[in-house]
Amino acid sequence: MGEKGTFIATVRTPPENAMHILVAYATRHGSTAGIAERIGAALDASGHSATVKPVHEVEDLSHYDAVILGSAAYAFHWLREATSFAKRHKAELSQRPIWLFSSGPLGEETVDEKGRPVLEAAEPKEFEKFADVLNVRGDVVFFGAWDPASPPVGVLERAMSHLPGDPRSALPSGDFRHWDQVEAWAREIAKELTAEEV
Ligand SMILES: Cc1cc2nc3c(=O)[nH]c(=O)nc-3n(C[C@H](O)[C@H](O)[C@H](O)COP(=O)(O)O)c2cc1C
Repeated sequence: MGEKGTFIATVRTPPENAMHILVAYATRHGSTAGIAERIGAALDASGHSATVKPVHEVEDLSHYDAVILGSAAYAFHWLREATSFAKRHKAELSQRPIWLFSSGPLGEETVDEKGRPVLEAAEPKEFEKFADVLNVRGDVVFFGAWDPASPPVGVLERAMSHLPGDPRSALPSGDFRHWDQVEAWAREIAKELTAEEV
């Protein structure tokens, strides 16, 4: 409240070249959707305009100046719907800057039993694959989340759930997403796009 009876609104001045950014994601159990939403919110807070959608709801990329594409990783790979999205929209994606994120590793450890950084070891095969064919500006792996009580989704998990001792129960359970890292990554992208020539 300013002068008596006057409200002072916080006015966010968008950068002159505010961009419309698509954050498209693929998820099985929802935690990657949460990361995508957080990225979208950080981009909006930086003065850009983000649309966050699951890949299967995106038909047309013509409204977007840049794209962030993310997927949960299962068995070292992105979900098929994310790779299909990239193939389906290859031509449009090649004309726009694109960033990739993957969500997966579970637990508090940052180095695995072979001494490799966990986030590096968890890079999905798709990062390498898309680096050559798309205009990839950056990629990142974020820690994920796992709730062992969640019903199995997909053929692999359903098969696992029928095995003795259900191997999924050996996974560290909990929410290991580091929101500060997610937001910092999104802010870096926002900054890069703000500096972009239009
Ligand atoms: C059967 C199974 C296989 C998994 N394989 C991997 C993997 O290869 N690499 C990885 O980083 N995370 C793996 N994870 C962890 C998931 O990627 C993690 O739980 C992620 O946050 C799930 O995202 P979602 O909730 O969006 O589906 C696996 C999880 C399950 C249940």
